[in-house]
Amino acid sequence: MSLAEALDRLEISPRKREILTLNHTYLMPNRVEAWAGAGVPLVIGRREGYRFWDIDGHELRDFHINGGTYNLGHRHPAMVEALVEGVATLDVGNHHFPSEARGRLAERLAELTPGDLHYSVLTPSGGEANDVAIKSARHATGRRKIVSLEAGYHGASGLSGAAGNDAEAAYFNSAYPDEFLKVPFGDLDAMEKALSGRDVAAVLIEPIPATFGFPIPEKDYLPGVRSLCDRYETLLVADEVQTGLGRTGRLWAVETFGVQPDMLISGKGLGGGMYPIGVVVMTREVGAWLAERGWGYVSTFGGSEIGCAVALRGLELCAAEETARNVAEMSVHLEKGLADLRSRHPFLCDVRQKGLIAGLGFDDPNGGLQMAATLYPLGLWAMFAGFDRRYLQFKPGLLVDRAFLDEGFEKLETAIRRVAG
Ligand SMILES: Cc1ncc(COP(=O)(O)O)c(C=O)c1O
Repeated sequence: MSLAEALDRLEISPRKREILTLNHTYLMPNRVEAWAGAGVPLVIGRREGYRFWDIDGHELRDFHINGGTYNLGHRHPAMVEALVEGVATLDVGNHHFPSEARGRLAERLAELTPGDLHYSVLTPSGGEANDVAIKSARHATGRRKIVSLEAGYHGASGLSGAAGNDAEAAYFNSAYPDEFLKVPFGDLDAMEKALSGRDVAAVLIEPIPATFGFPIPEKDYLPGVRSLCDRYETLLVADEVQTGLGRTGRLWAVETFGVQPDMLISGKGLGGGMYPIGVVVMTREVGAWLAERGWGYVSTFGGSEIGCAVALRGLELCAAEETARNVAEMSVHLEKGLADLRSRHPFLCDVRQKGLIAGLGFDDPNGGLQMAATLYPLGLWAMFAGFDRRYLQFKPGLLVDRAFLDEGFEKLETAIRRVAG
């Protein structure tokens, strides 16, 4: 079906049609076709708090929050204020020189990350932060191999892409199967086999793999990975781009599993949804190269000064006691609401939850996909899990209230009735 035919089937304004056509022509033909074909011709217009509106006026409750980017909601007033204040006196800065904004953010990151994580390398994205983590691990250990999960996603830049889905990397002729090994999630034997050659620089792992639908690891899995890393002198890198910044009930998911990584990655919500910024925080030992090679990683926009000022405000809000209290209360409400739905609807056959992160499994190979498409016209946006389409990622933000969650449950129930028949 051509784009024009797909658009003819949808009720959209001439303005939206023009925007979709522009994007199709100049940016992303396949993506525009895929969304139009799925009945989700979304072009985001107004956005505020945990709601946004399509440019044709359709209101959506945001239960996707773009993987945590909108943890604090869209355009949180404090984040808008931080950006406006930053713009009043700063610009992106000059990455060759020290800066107050970068220094203050890095100091706070060292204080707020677990154990002896100390040095920060600031990047423009989560993918690049993973690239830097991989380079740092290779330099620190003198080894080249990286082990990650088959279920993992770490970005689409060079090294981070190779550490993710093999088929994606291979499509661009950029897979390095001898150096980037993948193991199944939750399998300590497979992990040990991969590490036992003592030639692996780092294990790169999402504590709860987002794109796989948030499977919650068994209690002993991440501590087990940590001890294997210790045994085989491999570094442990926690990719907390989606799980960090308070969503699991602690500031970092590794803390909920009692695990101390050698490097921790953050991104997405770090910029409060207002400015792109990523970071890898590492121990002094892993970051020893920073003391000897000042220009070992350079990025014009990595650690932009405006971004650092915004991120510092966002980090404080995510780490605030009041925020943690709300996450704790809303997590209980979420658990009850999902358990209630599950008890009445066998189509919702699995609920995975940690804090305000949830993966909902449906009794159909494409259940998550069907639910996302059905929830869209009902006014709720939640995204299916890219690596397991039975699952829907259901991710309320940190500051939601009961009424907002209740609206979510109601819409989930209507969608379940429609999809399950
Ligand atoms: C766990 C994880 N790591 C890394 C990334 C990459 O971040 P970015 O898109 O900022 O490069 C993502 C993005 O979705 C992610 O979910």
